[in-house]
Amino acid sequence: MHKAGGQREMAVTLKTAQGRKLSSQLWLQRQLNDPYVARSKAEGYRSRAAYKLLELDEKFSLLKPGMRLVDLGCAPGGWLQVATKKAPARLIGIDYLPTAPVSGADILELDFLDESAPFRLKEALGGGADLILSDMAAPTTGHKATDHLRVVALAEAALDFAVDVLAPGGSFVCKVFQGGTEGELLARLKANFSSVKHAKPKASRAESAEVYVVAQGFKGARASRT
Ligand SMILES: C[S@@+](CC[C@H](N)C(=O)[O-])C[C@H]1O[C@@H](n2cnc3c(N)ncnc32)[C@H](O)[C@@H]1O
Repeated sequence: MHKAGGQREMAVTLKTAQGRKLSSQLWLQRQLNDPYVARSKAEGYRSRAAYKLLELDEKFSLLKPGMRLVDLGCAPGGWLQVATKKAPARLIGIDYLPTAPVSGADILELDFLDESAPFRLKEALGGGADLILSDMAAPTTGHKATDHLRVVALAEAALDFAVDVLAPGGSFVCKVFQGGTEGELLARLKANFSSVKHAKPKASRAESAEVYVVAQGFKGARASRT
């Protein structure tokens, strides 16, 4: 790796492969050189993803004290940590992977696509929500069309839940991939929210196709839905 202008090379390069596959070597090298990984360690966040929510919040003023929110796909808990700092009245996280406890949050270890999940989340919320966050991502298969369908399916399930539980004026933030909010999903978002925008936080890797859709101003249960 060379930097322009003959600067001293500061990036960490792995000296030996030590039996690692090329893909895991590249992953490790990227982790070691990632400023957000270093920052999350220094600032006590469990994931570099925490900075994505911090940036989205700075741009869209999503998190407010006393709010009720749900974090879909919460493990390892970076977004929960960010959200608890704003003193929510109720914060529920869900993931099928274990999430270590976060003070101020209730965590369900459950597949969001399980048919019991919406009911269990609503029960834990005990009322309407002001904000539904989804950073869910299924493991990729490498088969583009399958991966795309899975992303859309998760986003649709998250939107179904948001439409069911959000109070009027509420917001919905969902990880999608480029092209993920075309067609029907985008039409449903526009029908249900007064503002629908896409954002790619700086903490989201440039080479990743991930973007977030930020829908604000939920029109409420009586709005027309497609
Ligand atoms: C990018 S990570 C979330 C990182 C998290 N926002 C943070 O800040 O630590 C995506 C998560 O979505 C979860 N996930 C994917 N599909 C899910 C599903 N059907 N139900 C629950 N969690 C799911 C994965 O297990 C994974 O932990």
